[in-house]
Amino acid sequence: MKKTGIVFLLFITSLLQGQTYNNLWIPDTISGTQFNLNLKDTFAQLRPGNQTITAGINNKIWGPTLFFNKGDTVHMNVHNYLNDSTTIHWHGFHLPAVMDGGPHQIIPPGTIWKPYWKVSNNASTYWYHPHLHTMTQEHLTKGLGGFIIVRDPQERALAIPRRYGIDDIPLVLTSRRYDASNAFAYTNIAYGDYMLSNGTPSAQISLPKQMVRLRILNAEIERGYDIGFSDNRTFYIIGNDGGLLNAPVPVTRVKLLVGERIEILVNFSNDVLGSSLDLKSYNAGQTFGFPGGEPSSSGPLGSLLNNTNFNVLHINIGAQTANPITVLPTNLVNNTYWTAADATVNKSVNVTGGTPGNDFTLDNASFALSVINKTVTLNSIEKWTITNNNVFGHAFHIHDVEFKIVARSSGTVGVHESGWKDVVYLPKNESVTFVAKFDDYADTIHPFMYHCHFSNHEDGGMMGQFIVKSSVPTGLSANELTESDFTIYPNPANNKLFINLSDLGAEVYYLRITNVVGKTLYMLPKPQLTEGIDISHFSPGVYMVQLTHNKTKKTTTKKFVKE
Ligand code: C2O
Ligand code: CU
Repeated sequence: MKKTGIVFLLFITSLLQGQTYNNLWIPDTISGTQFNLNLKDTFAQLRPGNQTITAGINNKIWGPTLFFNKGDTVHMNVHNYLNDSTTIHWHGFHLPAVMDGGPHQIIPPGTIWKPYWKVSNNASTYWYHPHLHTMTQEHLTKGLGGFIIVRDPQERALAIPRRYGIDDIPLVLTSRRYDASNAFAYTNIAYGDYMLSNGTPSAQISLPKQMVRLRILNAEIERGYDIGFSDNRTFYIIGNDGGLLNAPVPVTRVKLLVGERIEILVNFSNDVLGSSLDLKSYNAGQTFGFPGGEPSSSGPLGSLLNNTNFNVLHINIGAQTANPITVLPTNLVNNTYWTAADATVNKSVNVTGGTPGNDFTLDNASFALSVINKTVTLNSIEKWTITNNNVFGHAFHIHDVEFKIVARSSGTVGVHESGWKDVVYLPKNESVTFVAKFDDYADTIHPFMYHCHFSNHEDGGMMGQFIVKSSVPTGLSANELTESDFTIYPNPANNKLFINLSDLGAEVYYLRITNVVGKTLYMLPKPQLTEGIDISHFSPGVYMVQLTHNKTKKTTTKKFVKE
């Protein structure tokens, strides 16, 4: 009788609040070393009424979670079925610039892009997302992106939760504004009005009565989150963007800016079965400059969620699983971080622009694809100081490396951000200094990016690019290709096309296959030629294969026939 009464009361309460929840969508997974990603325009029913025009990767919105093992060589088959060019960037990964998926690695519609690289990143939570200059906000808003989870032996040896979707939950946070016909708004807006957690509106999940790991990604356009639980319980940060911390860090709140990831452990062992609580963002009363703290509830810089505390995930406590983790580990991994003293080169970047009517910039220069803003020598350890004596906060991100934050002008570096990072919150009136080593990958053509990760700011030009150049002068070597130096066979070809280089020491920088009217169908950075090029999916006809020489960067084209 008493029990029925409680259930009835809960029912009334939820009726009064008008609150209904949808089960949190857990993205499907792909493991192994071959990853097929199909980008397409589609629709999703996100609210009553019209479906919303979205874009997804093998899905209606967002994409599959990719599992990589450190040390594996991963091969990505990115097929752009969108009606628009885009790029896919592997956020946080250390890889050759030509594989990076930044604004230079454009994938035209109908084209397959096949980058690959050896995974050298630590076990952590990464992501992939579009990065086409001036179009990033629109493509992200439509829903393109996905998680990447890297595993390594150090992480595997720890007694921490790692059952995906059960006690190890990926959680991507974002929000959207809808127009009257339920289309996403993405012109001249910084913030959405309604939360989407893993693409799910008003999300709920049942989590077991034990230690649970949440991998939280802020994939917003501009909003920052100040994450905590509705009962103010302590939870533990175990990982930053690029790896596990040395030891869990207890907190009750943690700020998470756009592009940042944290892994947390939260202990539900002592919660009552059937009880519930909320994971929330505490954005009310933030100091001006924290993105999403602005008071207005509408317009370009306002939203219904601004300056409020709002739910990101409703959690219902379910039964304990078999073999639960219930104890917090005291130590995690032994990181050896760079210190300021390791750096032999200092660089600085200043936030500029942002005056009324003007976009934000870096060092008074708006992004230009043809301008290299900085040059780094391969293998150097550099100290970068990013200074923001400007009107608002930002989230600074750099490609190619994971860095260690060594100083904040406001005082000490938070222990919650003491691990490997690739995005850092840059509050108003503050400067942040980090140290990174730029090893392994030098490239004279393709630069890496550094930018504000607010995609509206990035699209507006708040981005620069750097080249990593080899300390050994390359020049033109005897290994350069000339037209007569390669043959393609068989010709006509059916399933595989083989490229024969007469100089075995020569390398191909880029291979592109176009049809006779010049449309790019296949883009293979640094192709592994010995395996042959799979052309089985091409329709019969005449095609051009264009090789870019690794040393001279000159291109040479030959014709072949597909039977
Ligand atoms: Cu997450 Cu340059 O990007
Ligand atoms: Cu910014």
